[in-house]
Amino acid sequence: ATLLLLHGPNLNLLGSREPEVYGHTTLADIDADLSARAQAAGHVLEAFQSNAEHALVERVQAARLDGTAFILLNPAAFTHTSVALRDALAAVAIPFIEIHLSNPHAREPFRQHSYFSDKAVGVVCGFGADSYRYALDAALQRLAR
Ligand code: DQA
Repeated sequence: ATLLLLHGPNLNLLGSREPEVYGHTTLADIDADLSARAQAAGHVLEAFQSNAEHALVERVQAARLDGTAFILLNPAAFTHTSVALRDALAAVAIPFIEIHLSNPHAREPFRQHSYFSDKAVGVVCGFGADSYRYALDAALQRLAR
């Protein structure tokens, strides 16, 4: 199957961005790691990052047509703001897992609400770059059954 890994704003800066919060792993490292793991399981994983809400909405809309079976999503700051991205995921009706490097529940109050969690298959947060691996493992389990 084809999986889509979506990253929201500022995640292009991973590795240098607040490393005490987000770690030293770069986005390229995460994308390469997940792509290799998906491939080893017989799947294809495509990654897309944008700082622009409209670009993420359009990528989700395109997923309806390109055969994407599962979405792995770190909406970053849009977690807490984007009705538009939430609506796009509802529109395409592709199952998704919400991912965060940090644990938003242990941070500022404004990070404790997500526009995605109630629509997600599940949420993985707080494990740094490993959050992505755990989410991929969960997605691969789902796809296998
Ligand atoms: C984040 C958490 C968000 O609150 C924040 O805006 C991010 C990254 C995370 O992965 O921990 O940009 O989604």
